[in-house]
Amino acid sequence: MDFVGSHILSVDQFGREDVERLFAVADDMRIYADRARITRVLQGAILSNMFFEPSTRTRISFGCAFNLLGGDVRETTELKASSLAKGESLYDTARVLSGYSDIIVMRHPEAGSVAEFAAASRVPVINAGDGPNEHPSQALLDLYTILKEMESRGRGIDGLRIALVGDLKYGRAVHSLCKLLGMYDNIHYKLTSPIGLGAPAEMIEGLKARGHEVREYDQLEPGIHNVDILYVTRTQEERFPTQEDADRYRGLFRLNNAIYTENCEPNTVIMHPLPRDSRTEARELDDDLFQNPNLAIFRQTDNGVLIRMALFALVLDVAQNVHNHAQPVTWYTARRFTKV
Ligand code: CP
Repeated sequence: MDFVGSHILSVDQFGREDVERLFAVADDMRIYADRARITRVLQGAILSNMFFEPSTRTRISFGCAFNLLGGDVRETTELKASSLAKGESLYDTARVLSGYSDIIVMRHPEAGSVAEFAAASRVPVINAGDGPNEHPSQALLDLYTILKEMESRGRGIDGLRIALVGDLKYGRAVHSLCKLLGMYDNIHYKLTSPIGLGAPAEMIEGLKARGHEVREYDQLEPGIHNVDILYVTRTQEERFPTQEDADRYRGLFRLNNAIYTENCEPNTVIMHPLPRDSRTEARELDDDLFQNPNLAIFRQTDNGVLIRMALFALVLDVAQNVHNHAQPVTWYTARRFTKV
């Protein structure tokens, strides 16, 4: 894959070598994300960060990643704050914005919308989530986290045993992660979801066709035994036809410390793309897991900055120059010493 000038729309664009290259650049970014040094390699560059759906970590971490490389960020949050609300097309919006920007990150509620936007853009576009379809940068940071967690246990990714739990129908992070893991050898997937929220059949068939083992469960406990990674997701209530439809699923699968201890191996890594639904009646991932060192959710969010910096550096062709623009940090920063 040639990163330079490319749109990043789907995990299907990536092969193992591409991922390894991205991850090597992400490793290089850690000193900047940790505020041990600063770099100004993208000084003068402008990111348009267009989020037409709610977001905390994807929007802010893309923006921080660009700032950490020295670039400036212009944001539009909410559809109603843009002229799309006046009937302007994605085509016109893309033509206009790409005249103002060096790169665009976009989240939109419709599947395929970011690709449609990218086709009209004159600058690279990164998909930050298009409806229930894909969330490639989330899958890349999840895979990076899985790799780091497994390496710390003396393992790699081939042969990985992973349980994906929750709303596998609408969860775009799951769709992208499952496809990305499919590049590796002999992955054992346990797809664990309430009846009605199972993973798309074509995704399952695709994984089986590549020789992976896929088993489906509609109960939590049997669906989380004997795995290396336990990847929990929120019910994507905003994607259901009606709120009443979504309400039926709230709180059905809840992982807490007692269920984890009883059903999982002592080293099983707990992941979640976040946000968790922390309402009392939902709680798919309980706060009593905070003391568990295998809880990797905030290592995931921190890794998101590294991966997004690496994407910008490769797409804008500055990966080899980042350290040439490095400078010392001149302010007090606790960030360097924080452990998560
Ligand atoms: N994981 C994720 O996409 O989170 P946000 O919706 O907060 O960006």
